[in-house]
Amino acid sequence: MLNVQEADVFYGDFHVIHRASLEVNQGELVALIGANGHGKSTLLKAICGLVPFQHGDIYYKGESIKAKDTTKLVGDGLVYVAEDRRLFPDMTVQENLMLGAYLERGRRRQFETLEHVYTLYPRLQERRSQLARTLSGGETQMLALGRGLMSAPELIAIDEPSLGLAPNLVANMLNTIKSFKDEGLTVLLVEQSLFLIESFVDKIYLLEEGVVSLYDDADVTKK
Ligand SMILES: Nc1ncnc2c1ncn2[C@@H]1O[C@H](COP(=O)(O)OP(=O)(O)O)[C@@H](O)[C@H]1O
Ligand SMILES: [Mg+2]
Repeated sequence: MLNVQEADVFYGDFHVIHRASLEVNQGELVALIGANGHGKSTLLKAICGLVPFQHGDIYYKGESIKAKDTTKLVGDGLVYVAEDRRLFPDMTVQENLMLGAYLERGRRRQFETLEHVYTLYPRLQERRSQLARTLSGGETQMLALGRGLMSAPELIAIDEPSLGLAPNLVANMLNTIKSFKDEGLTVLLVEQSLFLIESFVDKIYLLEEGVVSLYDDADVTKK
């Protein structure tokens, strides 16, 4: 479903990602892990058409993303949930959610999806009329994920959802991400560590100083 082949990413002269290759098959939940500053967000943004890449190519559903902008990719079901959540602080919870359904793809089933998001995250339903700025860190992350779901993704790319969350909330939030997979979504999940995700990911890639490698069970037991 997603195939990254030897992609390079630069910020000006700064070479961040070096010949990255990775593959996510339909229905898989794949983790991309690595320490802070090693290029995880950069690679995820390149995959979602938000930063340009050089060399190689990135294919989504068999087609190069080169000729597509982010809106087109979202319209094709490739949906990105940013590390910094990117919400509209002065809009309500429900208005933020509905913005996720602004393209035809999400709009078609927006009310069913909204119900589904509220079932998954009852806190959002309770707070649907509150301004996004008044939410706690955990609720803000629920809203970012809920808004992603409102776009009706086929592949949802989620950047460090546990970042900044109170430790007691992380397991719950990661469980809802596991439920995305159980419902048939394909998930590319970026995290700093395997903490709490190792048991349910199908495949793990490790990003070290811009270099991607497959992280297999043998490696896990070695470390
Ligand atoms: N917009 C940018 N312009 C220049 N350098 C950047 C930019 N964004 C990130 N970087 C740098 O690229 C490297 C990788 O960053 P990032 O992809 O955010 O890593 P991670 O998500 O793994 O923490 C870091 O050295 C960071 O400082
Ligand atoms: Mg990051």
